[in-house]
Amino acid sequence: MKNELILILDFGGQYNQLIARRVRECNVYSEVVPFDISIEKIKEKNPKGIIFTGGPASVFGKDSPKCNSKIFNLGIPILGICYGMQLMTVILGGKVEKATKREYGVTNVKIDNNSLLFKDFNSTNNFLMSHTDFVENLPSGFKTISSTPSCPNSGMENKDKNFYGIQFHPEVVHSENGINVIKNFLYEICKCKGDWEVSSFAKEKIKSLKEKIGNKKALCALSGGVDSSVAAILLHKAIGKNLTCIFVDHGLLRKNEGNEVEEVFKNQFDINLIRVNCKDRFLQKLDGVIDPEKKRKIIGEEFIRVFEEEAKKIGTVDYLVQGTIYPDVIESGLGKSSVIKSHHNVGGLPDYVDFKEIVEPLRDLFKDEVRKVGLELGIPENLVYRQPFPGPGLAIRIIGNITEDKLNILKEADSIFREEIANAGLHKSINQYFAVLTNLKSVGVMGDERTYDYTIALRAIETTDFMTGVWSKIPYEVLEKVSSRIVNEVEHVNRVVYDITSKPPATIEWE
Ligand code: XMP
Repeated sequence: MKNELILILDFGGQYNQLIARRVRECNVYSEVVPFDISIEKIKEKNPKGIIFTGGPASVFGKDSPKCNSKIFNLGIPILGICYGMQLMTVILGGKVEKATKREYGVTNVKIDNNSLLFKDFNSTNNFLMSHTDFVENLPSGFKTISSTPSCPNSGMENKDKNFYGIQFHPEVVHSENGINVIKNFLYEICKCKGDWEVSSFAKEKIKSLKEKIGNKKALCALSGGVDSSVAAILLHKAIGKNLTCIFVDHGLLRKNEGNEVEEVFKNQFDINLIRVNCKDRFLQKLDGVIDPEKKRKIIGEEFIRVFEEEAKKIGTVDYLVQGTIYPDVIESGLGKSSVIKSHHNVGGLPDYVDFKEIVEPLRDLFKDEVRKVGLELGIPENLVYRQPFPGPGLAIRIIGNITEDKLNILKEADSIFREEIANAGLHKSINQYFAVLTNLKSVGVMGDERTYDYTIALRAIETTDFMTGVWSKIPYEVLEKVSSRIVNEVEHVNRVVYDITSKPPATIEWE
């Protein structure tokens, strides 16, 4: 069955993925596509509606992104947001002006609730505005449906043609009832029925994987992270023992993590799982290495070697399973910004393995949708909501040279920190938190003895995208408990510090 579809034309705004997610939250499937998508392609996709996103450009810019103007002849409803509204105005013959000052912030907007876009709204509503240019004259056939003192045409409609434009951002949480603007567009204007549900996704995916793969064999690299885990279980439900998972345990995982992965996949789901314990091999390769990028490179390469060796033992497989998710697809398709860290993802594509085709069962899903599918499939909550963990593992949380002793110190300290965060009920509000073993030794006193031992740093970040983030204001009592437990329970640590730097300027990881 083909789902109803909303196409989101990406003009480079920071909230584009969010718009797609909001649409899906309203039970309508959405796809983000480049702004210059061809008319043929749009027809082929046959969307119920189109949304133009915002973007950093100005319609006055020489190279500003423009869609094909024939898009307005297709008879498909269109909603332009911010830059998208301005572009719609210019293409359809209206006038955009440049303001001297940028308007930013939550603004009380006067709205015409006779418009279908604002059905069931009050006559004013608070929305987030963020713009410099604004619509001065509407294109013909349009009328104003919302206004603010500094932006008299903050909303417009051409009801006959189903074209709508808004200067504010309904997709962000700062906009009161923002989701209802999106809902009205989908249900009142595009006449969607709402046939997208994550739970039916799992059922249909398992069925289609079964049909596609049949009795052939598939191989999956398991990292213990959410994406590869959910992909593996989907495949397992579809083809059972014809799936083999290889779990390369490089020994750089958190305390007990390797065993937890094995417990879930081998015992709970009865998956064909090969766990390769190769801590010593990785530690040998990392011996004496202090440069973070070099660590990443060594671990990434060695991971591939181990995987290759194991895959060879299995022989040719028909399919290689990848846990690629939708944001990866969008980002790689639309060009990424500059690389600060190389982010070798252990479990990335091993191009030497003998396989015929790649299967990426999650490539249409956002992270929160992957989590819902995971719960639906019966994967334990602690795995489904696991905080992100870097592929190179604890190697980039031990500053400088890595030894087995240091690894053990860090595992213990980190486990205490995680335990206390959970005890304080903070584990869902802090998005990433962990301990770092610095290479700083300092003087302390324990009982009557002088000590000269390591300093542990604690890191806790609140973020939605992991590209920026703020340090978490953990209550002092929790920090005090963590600190006292770590120095008392972990040998060779006599000092604990808390990292109060946000990102930017610091990164989340210390290496
Ligand atoms: P930074 O330190 O760049 O981290 O602020 C942003 C997010 O990326 C994760 N990270 C990595 N993930 N391989 C990964 O798979 C890596 O080499 C790597 N380095 C950082 C980090 O944990 C955070 O979630």
